Amino acid sequence: MNASILITGGAGYIGSHMVLAAASAGFTPVILDDFSTGHMDAITQGVAVSGNIADRALLRSILAEHSPACIMHFAAKSLVAESVEKPELYWKNNVEDAAILMEAAAEAKIPFIFSSTAAVYGMPEYTPMDEAHPTAPINPYGETKLAAERKLEEYRLSHGLNYGILRYFNAAGAAPGGVIGERHEPETHLIPLAIRAAMHGTEMKIFGDDYDTQDGTCLRDYIHVLDLCDAHLRLYNYIQTLRPSQPASERIFNLGTGTGFSVREVIETTAKITGKTIHAITHPRRAGDPPALVANGSRAKNILGWKPKHSDLATIIEDAFRFHQNERIS
Ligand SMILES: NC(=O)c1ccc[n+]([C@@H]2O[C@H](COP(=O)([O-])OP(=O)(O)OC[C@H]3O[C@@H](n4cnc5c(N)ncnc54)[C@H](O)[C@@H]3O)[C@@H](O)[C@H]2O)c1
Repeated sequence: MNASILITGGAGYIGSHMVLAAASAGFTPVILDDFSTGHMDAITQGVAVSGNIADRALLRSILAEHSPACIMHFAAKSLVAESVEKPELYWKNNVEDAAILMEAAAEAKIPFIFSSTAAVYGMPEYTPMDEAHPTAPINPYGETKLAAERKLEEYRLSHGLNYGILRYFNAAGAAPGGVIGERHEPETHLIPLAIRAAMHGTEMKIFGDDYDTQDGTCLRDYIHVLDLCDAHLRLYNYIQTLRPSQPASERIFNLGTGTGFSVREVIETTAKITGKTIHAITHPRRAGDPPALVANGSRAKNILGWKPKHSDLATIIEDAFRFHQNERIS
């Protein structure tokens, strides 16, 4: 029988791609999702369980039935603006509920891989940003992801939990089949917004064009979701080689390409790929948007042997566009 991986949030954008990647690598994906932001039809493989990560009895029964070789924890609330309005909801879901899952992993001695974010760094003090960059989140979402990272370290110290952390910069793209892709509500990510504006002829907003960048708009580091999933499988192999005494600093990896694309470049590339004109209107800067967020991903490259293969901007947008075209038909 194949070993299984428990994928929390497997009905969401990145988790649903991890389900495919885990199955392709020979694992049986077991998905735990409460469908608060996920979609049942995004689950294309494996065993789906509907429920919350904080349900101790459910966790016990899943772990007893499937004995997963690893837990990959994607389930979280991740809208920055919502986190500002409802910080308690974010703290409960992303920290307190996640800690219940971590405790179950620690007690059952199951390795744990956590989806973290560049939002733990806050405003860049230098760029490209490596893992040693100070962590000073500037919104409750980033605070909760950093607090969850710290909880993992507490469980390592108290229970010997074996864990690894991936700090994603901007996840983007979709599996090339066009069946699963990015579906957040509300959507706040630039690439799906640009594709929708192209497809529907609606206006989109550029927040600030007076930054100190090549064309005045913000730079972001986009990673194809398939490359993110590959990093998870590599990290799974890597953490088997770690000793419990190895601290957080040896368990954290940035995932980014090291190249930033500006908002205008993304919009222009999307217009080219979709063959449509995009009506982009410049608005004032938003508070808290750094001019450039670009990763130094050398640790993941050197230690995990990770090399992004799908993360050129055109491939990302083509794959995402295929998904959005299918979404319109269905
Ligand atoms: N999308 C990005 O660019 C990005 C960047 C950095 C980090 N991340 C992190 O990656 C992870 C996945 O993000 P995504 O974009 O796929 O989000 P998503 O909202 O599409 O997926 C999250 C999934 O988790 C589920 N979920 C949430 N809380 C739950 C709970 N308490 N119990 C069970 N299920 C629950 C949701 O129903 C959903 O299916 C998150 O942890 C996020 O913080 C995402």
